[in-house]
Amino acid sequence: MTVSDGSTARIGPTAHYTAYVWSRLRLPYASYLATPTGAALYWGFFALGEWTTRVLPGVPTMREFLAYRHLLIDALVEDLAPDRLVELGAGLTPRTVEWALDRDIATVDIDLPAMIEVKRRAIGRLPAAMQARLAARHRLLALDVLAPQFSAQLADALAGAQRPVIIAEGLVSYFDPAARASLFSAVARALEGRPHAAFIVDLHTAVAQNQVGPATKVLRSAIRVLTRRRHALGPFADAAEYERALLDAGFSGCRTLDRADWVHARPGLAGLHSPAQVVHAWVE
Ligand SMILES: C[S@@+](CC[C@H](N)C(=O)[O-])C[C@H]1O[C@@H](n2cnc3c(N)ncnc32)[C@H](O)[C@@H]1O
Repeated sequence: MTVSDGSTARIGPTAHYTAYVWSRLRLPYASYLATPTGAALYWGFFALGEWTTRVLPGVPTMREFLAYRHLLIDALVEDLAPDRLVELGAGLTPRTVEWALDRDIATVDIDLPAMIEVKRRAIGRLPAAMQARLAARHRLLALDVLAPQFSAQLADALAGAQRPVIIAEGLVSYFDPAARASLFSAVARALEGRPHAAFIVDLHTAVAQNQVGPATKVLRSAIRVLTRRRHALGPFADAAEYERALLDAGFSGCRTLDRADWVHARPGLAGLHSPAQVVHAWVE
């Protein structure tokens, strides 16, 4: 597979799905961004087999699985106190809207053109006064994160920022190893010379997926249906493999977050568990 083939277009529906979950979790501004497509996917996915996760003890539901990564990322972003927040594969995330409106931080959503149009329309559902305030602090950029020029485009989007935070939430696990390496190295190059910048990404490993067992099988097969993929998503073998991939791409260091350290910042994390790892990487 090339790093940017037509399969990326199939990931789009998942953004509607997660937007509906963010709305059900009552995240700030999420209700404006949820779509009827997301609701249909959510309940279709439930009927397809996701419901089984609700009756299997010790198995996270899709909603818990998504809440885990989102809240853990939120806690780290808060701790890093960015002066610019950039979401790659932003989909319909409400995080950039929240940080722009409630914290007055410049935010940027990056996604493929079709999804950027969906987000533009979704933002059009915000009350007019909110839209006006948002316009001064929030940008929508239609870019392919796997394109050769992406690193330079991202560096442009970071101009003037001292403590930018770049988030790739729910994106990398849809990419094959070549695409993951391309994305990591584009971000690392864009962050060069920015010692206070951070990259936050959720990653999957075969080791963690095997620990969760049956739940992963149900969730992965439902995700395959949702994205019309015939082949399984290929996670990293283990944490050592993704750490090596990040360092090889040009990051100077990385750490995997432990949920227990962040429950004080996001009490909603208590009791949640997931095979996803939230990883913080930086360039010195
Ligand atoms: C699972 S959604 C996650 C959306 C959002 N980050 C969230 O957590 O709610 C993945 C997003 O990645 C976007 N995407 C996929 N391939 C991409 C690419 N090559 N460049 C930019 N965005 C891409 C899709 O359009 C989709 O909006």
